Amino acid sequence: MAEVPNASAPLLLFDSGVGGLSVLSEIRALLPDAPVIYVADHAGLPYGEKTEAEIAARVCGLLGRLSERYQPRLVCIACNTASTIALAMVRDVLEVPIVGTVPAIKPAAEMTRTGVIGLLGTAATVRQPYVDRLEAEFAQGKSLLRHAAPELVAAAEAKLKGQHIDPDVFARAAAGLTGQPGGQDIDTVVLACTHFPLVEQELDKAFGGKVRFVHGGSGIARRVKVLVGDQPFERKEPDMALFTGRDEGVARELASRLADFGLSQIAML
Ligand code: DGL
Repeated sequence: MAEVPNASAPLLLFDSGVGGLSVLSEIRALLPDAPVIYVADHAGLPYGEKTEAEIAARVCGLLGRLSERYQPRLVCIACNTASTIALAMVRDVLEVPIVGTVPAIKPAAEMTRTGVIGLLGTAATVRQPYVDRLEAEFAQGKSLLRHAAPELVAAAEAKLKGQHIDPDVFARAAAGLTGQPGGQDIDTVVLACTHFPLVEQELDKAFGGKVRFVHGGSGIARRVKVLVGDQPFERKEPDMALFTGRDEGVARELASRLADFGLSQIAML
């Protein structure tokens, strides 16, 4: 039988930046009492522009360190780029349950009426064999058009800092899909980067309100609940956001939004 963890053992959510907050809000809705540590690897942002080897080394190294230090009951890799590249490796080295975030191609394939699905992700995610496998398994007979939209990562980070974002960024992301052959028939768009649901309203405008968006957040939250739902929870201190890097200013700029997500302590790793 699996050991019952200490009631104050946290769920540890990990992303390159603020994107994983879109996953955190879904987890909060199902598990409001679970203590949380949220880790943003801002020193490594953006993951989407890195090589597979760089991402795998970084994610495995950091999660090893974090797990030893904080003894989480579960780790959620709230990042599609890190999950599609390093999920299997992290599972090999850590003993704690790991939940990853992978592109929601399966629900999108069930939702589409036109049979044409768009996928927005980072450059690293859209080229992953993991995505090819999801497409082959769940989107047979459908058409999946992919587009790398790294600008949306910076846009989501800026939005949470309250900065102005040029709307052309969203128009370019939409055009990257609708401008492809068959792209006008897209009715469902997979947001295959956890940063993107944070700018869903802006994207909706850019697509002219003509598509439905789907992302993995609620499915991940359900999976986390299945794994820890019966365990005891006790929050002994306020939930914490941890940032890598030296730029404490960025963490301070994000402080009030982090508090909206229930992360009222901020620390540098
Ligand atoms: N939030 C991350 C994802 O889901 C990636 C953003 C980045 O670091 O490029 O893929």
